[in-house]
Amino acid sequence: MIENEMDFEGRLSAPEYIEGDNEIENSLRPKQLSDYIGQEKAKENLSIYIKAAKLRNEPLDHVLLYGPPGLGKTTLAGIVANELGVNLRITSGPAIEKQGDLVAILSNLENGDVLFIDEIHRLNRTVEEILYPAMEDGKIDIIIGKGPSARSFQLSLPKFTLIGATTRAGQISAPLRDRFGVILRLEMYTNEELAEIVKRSSKILGIPLDDEGAAIIASRSRGTPRIANRLLKRSRDFAEVKYEGVINKSAAGEALSSMDIDELGLDTIDRRLLSTMIRNYNGGPVGLETISAAIGEESVTIEDVYEPYLMQIGFLARTPRGRCVTPAGYKHLGIEFNPESNGAQQKFDL
Ligand code: ADE
Repeated sequence: MIENEMDFEGRLSAPEYIEGDNEIENSLRPKQLSDYIGQEKAKENLSIYIKAAKLRNEPLDHVLLYGPPGLGKTTLAGIVANELGVNLRITSGPAIEKQGDLVAILSNLENGDVLFIDEIHRLNRTVEEILYPAMEDGKIDIIIGKGPSARSFQLSLPKFTLIGATTRAGQISAPLRDRFGVILRLEMYTNEELAEIVKRSSKILGIPLDDEGAAIIASRSRGTPRIANRLLKRSRDFAEVKYEGVINKSAAGEALSSMDIDELGLDTIDRRLLSTMIRNYNGGPVGLETISAAIGEESVTIEDVYEPYLMQIGFLARTPRGRCVTPAGYKHLGIEFNPESNGAQQKFDL
């Protein structure tokens, strides 16, 4: 049963949303910058820009947040809106299908509001074109009708701050990227930061969590608060049924191994990805599309979701000729790495 649960798209250790996340995520989201743990650089910058905007009584410049999923982009947008004392409107690139959808959203904003567009790299071109003058001059050009009777007029918008979020900064068109005054990269969290996050969450949820339990959950959360909070919730079930309601080392450990998540936070799909590369392609170099076909996962998902963490922990390398499993990756899977037969010489310059 666990196998199946882990195999469908919403696997338990995926940083993307799965059902049940929203309710906990919303109650756990920090509302102020001072409650937000980690991302020190982004926080420091934002706090200055927020203060400056407030001093000048002007809206904050448009902000682009980028980095892997689950690191708290929506949470940060909520904090910015809260600290500025304005409304937050949330939408996403794929949800805005037509120009009219965006016009409706923009013209319904109130002065100073924050508009959050998640997955902004997925906006379609014609919609994006409306965004340029809106971001730059607070205006949009609307064309009504077709052919010779078409009329165009300009609509002035309330002042607003756009916060765009993307997992792929490289896929944002240059004209859009250039219109953001602030570009911030979110980093994966350290285990210490994740432990602090789950301790904060456990207090809010009223679940006792000891230091060892927090450390285990943190070390298996792939640098991602969304996963950490999800694992916390699952560990609570084991704690309540078997460990008198306290999430300790045993409760957390049992919960995680029952979900087939190993001591580094890798799940069955991560391990299948690495072992397929090793067994079928001699550890690489192998192309993304080939891996995608071999393990039956979409290539964008592999790139955005699995690879960042596998690269972060040094199990996977991207080379010009394709992806390679590193000697550390072999070791983790308990497969012998033989520099000669694995062609390590050319792969890693050993
Ligand atoms: N919950 C999710 N992300 C968080 C963060 N960065 N700080 C505190 N709580 C969080």
